[in-house]
Amino acid sequence: MPDAEPRLSRILRADFGDEETLLCGCKQTRNGPFCDGAHTNLPEGSPLDDPLSAANRDIPVVTQRDGARALLNGSCYVVSSELAPMTTRGSLRYGYLVSAELGSLYQTQLLMEVTGEASPVVTLGSRDVILFIGSGAGTVTISGRDFEVNATDGVFIRPSEAIQLTAADGQILKVFVLACPLGELGWLEQMPDNFEASFGERVVSVDPAQRTAMGPRYFQILVDKRIGSKVITQFIGHIPPSKAAPHRHLYEEAIIVLSGEGYMWTEDRKARVTAGDVIFLPRKQLHSLEATSADGLDVVGVICPGDNPSINYYD
Ligand code: FES
Repeated sequence: MPDAEPRLSRILRADFGDEETLLCGCKQTRNGPFCDGAHTNLPEGSPLDDPLSAANRDIPVVTQRDGARALLNGSCYVVSSELAPMTTRGSLRYGYLVSAELGSLYQTQLLMEVTGEASPVVTLGSRDVILFIGSGAGTVTISGRDFEVNATDGVFIRPSEAIQLTAADGQILKVFVLACPLGELGWLEQMPDNFEASFGERVVSVDPAQRTAMGPRYFQILVDKRIGSKVITQFIGHIPPSKAAPHRHLYEEAIIVLSGEGYMWTEDRKARVTAGDVIFLPRKQLHSLEATSADGLDVVGVICPGDNPSINYYD
C-alpha cells in the first residue's frame, strides 16, 4: 500500500555539541544518508499551502514598522532597503540590514551605494564575504585586482582581503555585502596587495542553463564552494504565484527581493514584501514565502552555514 505521507527529511541531532543534520526519508538523496533536497522534486515533495484557508485568513498583516523593519515571529523580519538608515563616507553610502544587533547569529549584511569617485577602501576582516550587484555597473577592486561587474552578478571576497567600489560613469553602483561570521566594517588608508591568486575566479553571472528545479520553483547557485566559499552560499531564484507550505531550514538566510510582490509568513504573522526588501530568516524559523504578483517573485538568497538552499524540513 503506497505511503500516505511523502517520506521527507528528518532531523538527526548528533550527540556532539549543537551539531544537527537532516536525514533523508525519501531515498532519493545522492548524499546518503543525508537529505540533499532531492525530495523537493518528488510528487508532493514541495507541498504548497492555500493562503485563503480558514487558518491563514486569521493571520494578520504586520503594518507597524520598527524603524525600517516589519517584525515577524522569533527574530525574523522584513527590512526595507529604501527606509534603512544610511551613513555617508566620501562617495560611499552604507547601511546595516542584518546584524547581531538586529538578531542574526551568523551573518552581517550591508547595503552600499557609490557614485562618482571610487569608494574608500573597506574590509570585513577575516571573514568570507559575498557581494550581490543590485543595480548599476562598475568595478570591484579586490586587494588590488580589478573585476568588472554588472547587475545580478555575485562576487566572492576571501578572508582578510579589502574591497573598493567604483561605479561606471554616470551610474550608481548598488551592492549588497554579506559577511559570515558576524563582523563590522573596517576602513583602510590604502589598498593592500594580499589578493589570494589561488582563488582566481571571483565573479559569477546569471546563466539560465545552470538552474536547478525545486518543485514549481527554480534557483541557480551563484557564489559557493566551487570558487572557494566554504561557509556562505549565494543563489538567485524564481517563485511563481504560489505559497509554500510552512517549513524550516538548519541555516540562517537573508533573502533580497529583486522583483514582484508577496508576503513573508511566520507562525501567526505575515508581512508584505516588494522589490528592494530584505528578509532576515533565523535558523529553524517556521516560515513560508508567498508570491502574489502575476510574474511571481525573483529573489537572491544567501545562506550560512550551508551549501544547499533546497534542504528543508517540515514539522
Ligand atoms: S528527504 Fe530525501 S533528499 Fe531530502
